[in-house]
Amino acid sequence: MLIFLRSSLLKSFSTKIISSFIIFIFFTGINLQAQDDGKKLFQICSACHSIGKGKLIGPDLKGVTERLDRDWLASFINNSQAVVQSGDEYAVKVFQEYNSIPMPPNNYSDEQMNILLDYIENFDKAPKPVETVAVAEAPEVEGEYVFMEETAYPFANLRISFIISAIIIALSLIDLFITKIVKTRFIHILIILISGAIITEVIVTEAISSGRATYYEPDQPIQFSHKIHAGDNLIDCNYCHFTVDESKYAGIPPVQLCMNCHNLIKEGPYTGKEEIAKIYASLETGMPIQWVKVYYLPDHVYFSHAQHVAVGKLECEECHGDLTSVDRVQQIGDLSMGWCIECHRIKAVQFIDNDFYSRYTKLHEELRSGDINQVTVSNIGGDDCQKCHY
Ligand code: HEC
Ligand code: HEC
Ligand code: HEC
Ligand code: HEC
Ligand code: HEC
Ligand code: HEC
Repeated sequence: MLIFLRSSLLKSFSTKIISSFIIFIFFTGINLQAQDDGKKLFQICSACHSIGKGKLIGPDLKGVTERLDRDWLASFINNSQAVVQSGDEYAVKVFQEYNSIPMPPNNYSDEQMNILLDYIENFDKAPKPVETVAVAEAPEVEGEYVFMEETAYPFANLRISFIISAIIIALSLIDLFITKIVKTRFIHILIILISGAIITEVIVTEAISSGRATYYEPDQPIQFSHKIHAGDNLIDCNYCHFTVDESKYAGIPPVQLCMNCHNLIKEGPYTGKEEIAKIYASLETGMPIQWVKVYYLPDHVYFSHAQHVAVGKLECEECHGDLTSVDRVQQIGDLSMGWCIECHRIKAVQFIDNDFYSRYTKLHEELRSGDINQVTVSNIGGDDCQKCHY
């Protein structure tokens, strides 16, 4: 997603990047394999550190190899607490500066440590031609898509219609059999039929939407807060929901993943030790945490996260709202068929330079000749019944 955001900026540089990349390979003889391994090694660090994008749970690591001695770094990265406890002045200072959150120990060999530190050192200098060139340019979307309008049924109005209709039927029955003010029976029957139809409509509408639960916000077994994790501590959504780019499911992280950090973070700012202790309890008993699912589609509907996030380049926020500012997850949107289709009608797909869509030659021609200025999901068949229904 970040790559996508930067893509238009980088696009203009891409030619320069490619040529400098070629020069780079020839003259520095950089070992791309090492670059790859470095990236892998850095993956577990990336939950808490960025390189050049500001501090997360730990400090920004940009330029750290220039700031600090490599031997010191090696011992700190493998066992930061030992360095802190040895009384190292600098280590004690950063430890305190970062709310005394200890960094997890590692077990890297000298060779791995060098690859990792080289990766951090060369992060900005190393060009990433494959990514910048392969990413499709975003077509200009007029009036960038804003958050989905709430499409829930106006229940309040429905209830009022229901009550008024019921009263009218009652009055009409009373007049028909008791007061007899209106002489023509036909009028009573007409009134009763019309009110009856309204009541039936209300009941049917309510019944259909009863399975939908906009604003559904269940209690969870652990008071897990997205604000603390994804907001305050800037942990990437994909770090925990790690299947979201390649699978139908975003997935809820297993308790072992919580332990990457909570083996050391034993206390939270609001709930102290109480809630975090439930993580350890789950690990000890082997009973997985029974999270209550918030977003839920019926079995006859097919929905894939990878299609929307990896191919469609949608932000999580467009469907789930801004979770970085809330403690509890609440369902946004009613997940009705109308909710899906409304977006497919207005949302433009990343069409140009995207191999995924090269077979739509007619649409490409229309786009080039200016007959259409964008291709929506509906244009490529996003409204076909069988795309969403098994
Ligand atoms: C759970 C979060 C977390 C993870 C994972 C983590 N760190 Fe840290 N790191 C921290 C925190 C917090 C600090 C601040 C110092 C402290 O707490 O001891 C820190 C400090 C550092 C420092 C000192 C930086 C400075 O400017 O003083 C370096 C270097 C570092 N980490 C490297 C790494 C590397 C490399 C990895 C991956 C192998 C890693 N960290 C994984 C949380 C983490
Ligand atoms: C990448 C690191 C990381 C991971 C992974 C992580 N947490 Fe946390 N968690 C934190 C940090 C940082 C805090 C805040 C600590 C502080 O501010 O003192 C925290 C705080 C908490 C708190 C206490 C909040 C409060 O209100 O006091 C709970 C409960 C919690 N996490 C549960 C979880 C659960 C459950 C998981 C796994 C699904 C998880 N965490 C995974 C870093 C992490
Ligand atoms: C530290 C791990 C962690 C991070 C980071 C994280 N989540 Fe979650 N997420 C969870 C856990 C655990 C649950 C289950 C508990 C709950 O619903 O609050 C969850 C639940 C959800 C749900 C509801 C799933 C359902 O239907 O039950 C959505 C949607 C979601 N996360 C989206 C996001 C988005 C978007 C981000 C980034 C802004 C994000 N998450 C970041 C751990 C995480
Ligand atoms: C916020 C906008 C948005 C919402 C809401 C949305 N979609 Fe989509 N959908 C997209 C975009 C954009 C694409 C195109 C992705 C791509 O480039 O292939 C897409 C593509 C699809 C495709 C593949 C279509 C094809 O022709 O290959 C399916 C199937 C689909 N969506 C199902 C659903 C279902 C089911 C829902 C509701 C539960 C839904 N979508 C809700 C934006 C949305
Ligand atoms: C086009 C709309 C859309 C986008 C974009 C989207 N989601 Fe979802 N998400 C859904 C729907 C619909 C469900 C319910 C799926 C079901 O029940 O089968 C869901 C369910 C979830 C769940 C519950 C577990 C699961 O896999 O069903 C999590 C967690 C989640 N989403 C996280 C994310 C994260 C993180 C992102 C961004 C990287 C994201 N979602 C982007 C629509 C979306
Ligand atoms: C973009 C995805 C999408 C497309 C295309 C789509 N549907 Fe649906 N459909 C859904 C979703 C999501 C639901 C679940 C609605 C709910 O639970 O309220 C649904 C529910 C239904 C239902 C059950 C009744 C209901 O409202 O719950 C029927 C019947 C149905 N669809 C028929 C169709 C037919 C016929 C077509 C083709 C004209 C079609 N659908 C195309 C997403 C789609």
